[in-house]
Amino acid sequence: MSVHAKTAEKMTGDSMMKTQGSKLEFNLKKIREEFPALHQKVHGKPLVYLDNAASTQKPRAVIEKLHHYYTWDNANIHRGVHTLSQRATDEYEAAREKVRAFIHAQKTSEVIFTRGTTESINLVAQTYGRQNIKAGDEIIISHMEHHSNIVPWQMLVEQIGAQLKVVPVTDAGELDLEAYQNMLSEKTKLVAMVHVSNSLGTINPMKKIIDVAHQAGVPVLVDGAQSVNHLEINVQELDADFFVFSGHKLFAPTGIGVLYGKESLLENMPPYQGGGDMIRQVSFEKTTYNDLPYKFEAGTPHIAGAIGLGAAIDYVQELGMSQLASYEKEVLDYATKALSALPGLKVIGQAKEKTSVLSFVLQDIHPHDIGTILDNEGVAVRAGHHCTMPLMQRFGVPATVRASFAFYNSFEEVDALLEAIKKVQEVFKG
Ligand code: ALA
Repeated sequence: MSVHAKTAEKMTGDSMMKTQGSKLEFNLKKIREEFPALHQKVHGKPLVYLDNAASTQKPRAVIEKLHHYYTWDNANIHRGVHTLSQRATDEYEAAREKVRAFIHAQKTSEVIFTRGTTESINLVAQTYGRQNIKAGDEIIISHMEHHSNIVPWQMLVEQIGAQLKVVPVTDAGELDLEAYQNMLSEKTKLVAMVHVSNSLGTINPMKKIIDVAHQAGVPVLVDGAQSVNHLEINVQELDADFFVFSGHKLFAPTGIGVLYGKESLLENMPPYQGGGDMIRQVSFEKTTYNDLPYKFEAGTPHIAGAIGLGAAIDYVQELGMSQLASYEKEVLDYATKALSALPGLKVIGQAKEKTSVLSFVLQDIHPHDIGTILDNEGVAVRAGHHCTMPLMQRFGVPATVRASFAFYNSFEEVDALLEAIKKVQEVFKG
């Protein structure tokens, strides 16, 4: 029996599914039932949703939480003495505590709600960056950064006359750690680095990256957009100075995200936006600012989004992050093996440590054409530069096709992807 057939046999049972070898055991069918969006047809075919690095589907627990909030508790927070406002405030602050516990931050005052990863990075660039980085200084990023961890720093260095240094990426899609170490100097004032690459799936050795930076006295911002949903995050163990992520990649609503920062850094940073809730006292002569974390949460926040994020965290924690990660690894390994065997298919990103992303090019067929044909087969992938244009240039491709997995994806869905790619090859034969 082939490896695929053997695995498929293990994974097709309807009820309790066991993964090979490990103690891992969970009911995939039951999990999938919790995600209504997965049970639909696209172009007459069952949806195979493999675009999880772009955004994840939402479990019933999150959808129902939002429904409950808007049905019963909808009110503004931190402002009203009335019951609905108090309920909304309690839920919002309870969500903050859930985030704190999930990423193992020391205090809730270190957890700031933002619109997402992008806003969190812009916040740090325009507050910490403006305050602490000066003309002639350097900021280190890597060649595998998402545009959201490039452009805010480019904007900053242009504003202040500093310089951006870029750590190269190897042919396998790993960071050149030696080059990174050599790049750190007295001029370096910040390292901003992606934890897991959205285009390659590479897991960067973040603890090491941070340790090395700290030895040189340099703080580190970790872009956790693609790691928070696949790895167990402990910001204290990592000793991350800033850790940022988006809710929508963690099964929560769009428009909500997190900036974690060490209290000692956040305390000394100026506010990002001015407005309601971020103040203590306002007069025309002088305004004083609120305590953390409110100093950075001007205006009415995405209350429902934060509450939804809390529900998403409860949901994944109940399933167990490490168990989910092990299962996702098996799906990725299975998919990598299956797709790599296709003639003319080249996997872009072959790092030793990877999670949940399989990027590829196929012969000289344009990724957008592949994506369109896959969509016709019901298979949703992302085709394009994945907001990492410099990385595409590094690998000499204009774009890739990217299948990205979540714990609700099955081995059969990988088979469906494989069959759909074979259809692409058929279409382009000759
Ligand atoms: N950053 C998201 C992605 O990689 C949108 O697709």
